[in-house]
Amino acid sequence: KIIPVIMAGGKGTRLWPLSRSSAPKQFIQVVDEKTLFQETLERIADAAIYEAPVIITNQDFRFTVAEQAREVGVDLSAIILEPVARNTAAAIAAAAIHLKQTFGEEAILLLLASDHEIDAGRDWSDAVATAHETATSGKIVTFGVKPTEPATGYGYIEQGDVLPSGAHKVKRFVEKPQLAAAEEMLAAGAFFWNSGIFMSRVDLLLSELEAFAPEVHEAAAAAVAAAAVDLDFVRLDEESFQASPDISIDYAVMEKTKNAAVVTSAFAWSDLGSWDAVWKLGDKDADGNVVIGHATVMNTENSLVLSRASHVAVQGLKDVAVVASEDAVYVGRLDEAQQVGTLVKALALSK
Ligand code: GDD
Ligand code: MG
Repeated sequence: KIIPVIMAGGKGTRLWPLSRSSAPKQFIQVVDEKTLFQETLERIADAAIYEAPVIITNQDFRFTVAEQAREVGVDLSAIILEPVARNTAAAIAAAAIHLKQTFGEEAILLLLASDHEIDAGRDWSDAVATAHETATSGKIVTFGVKPTEPATGYGYIEQGDVLPSGAHKVKRFVEKPQLAAAEEMLAAGAFFWNSGIFMSRVDLLLSELEAFAPEVHEAAAAAVAAAAVDLDFVRLDEESFQASPDISIDYAVMEKTKNAAVVTSAFAWSDLGSWDAVWKLGDKDADGNVVIGHATVMNTENSLVLSRASHVAVQGLKDVAVVASEDAVYVGRLDEAQQVGTLVKALALSK
């Protein structure tokens, strides 16, 4: 069976004011009733294919994780807790080292980001089946998504020769390129976005980490060796873990490994990273508005209006995002949505 490992320790500041440092993107309801983390749990709920999932997150989110899993009725195998944030390479290394002890060297891990919206229909299960076969044969498999614009916030995967499973070798992996490079890759074709989901045998993942990010591997191994286990919680040792460099798996391993493969799929995927992405994905009224929660619009076009708190009414505006949470309101142009993170930093400084 496949062992799902859900990475749920990120921040996601561009969805302010709904996402906060105490409740980052993966743990909030954005478009649907369920949170993105809960939707991730449901995507891998088929007990015929998957073991009970393992969550790796910051210790601050331990109760949120346990509570949200209980709400959707999903049993977890373990919740691995990071005492400090050291990015995804260290998180993945710690999870892999811990899981190798329980499931052995040949265990197949499915590493999932928890901050995406995916339509997990037939295309998703087909992609997982192909990835399973490819990972078993000794590849780190990425799930590639067809790019639609020269976005600079994603990893880009150049597809190489076809493998027996139907997956392709990865010729090149470029994490978060500059705009000019992103435009070139989009024009060249044969490039896919990295969806942030990976599958690999645990031994291969660890040997690549050891080869390309030895300090990360060493710190994670020490943190697991000295971990304190209480009930479902595995608390990584703070002193060991904080010695790890702060680097993502994309820079640490994916850009360097020669053993990557890509499964390209047609499943609908959105990073949902910013308000314009939420607007794009949402159900629109006849005027192109996405209206969610306690909100009303009049004489308004192509806008996102979302309130989880007091009633918001918008009149006579175009191309804007209006988002209200319990204690803050954001109003901005949709084409400035990428800059919300900068605004949030400025807000934090002015406090
Ligand atoms: N446990 C843990 N610890 N999880 C983390 C940490 C950490 O320190 N940092 C981030 N995560 C989680 C996030 O919650 C998210 O689910 C996932 O790991 C990816 O992290 P992001 O910070 O959201 O990465 P990104 O969006 O900038 O880039 C990644 O995803 C893109 C697709 O959305 C990369 O893999 C890109 O190549 C990819 O295109
Ligand atoms: Mg992300």
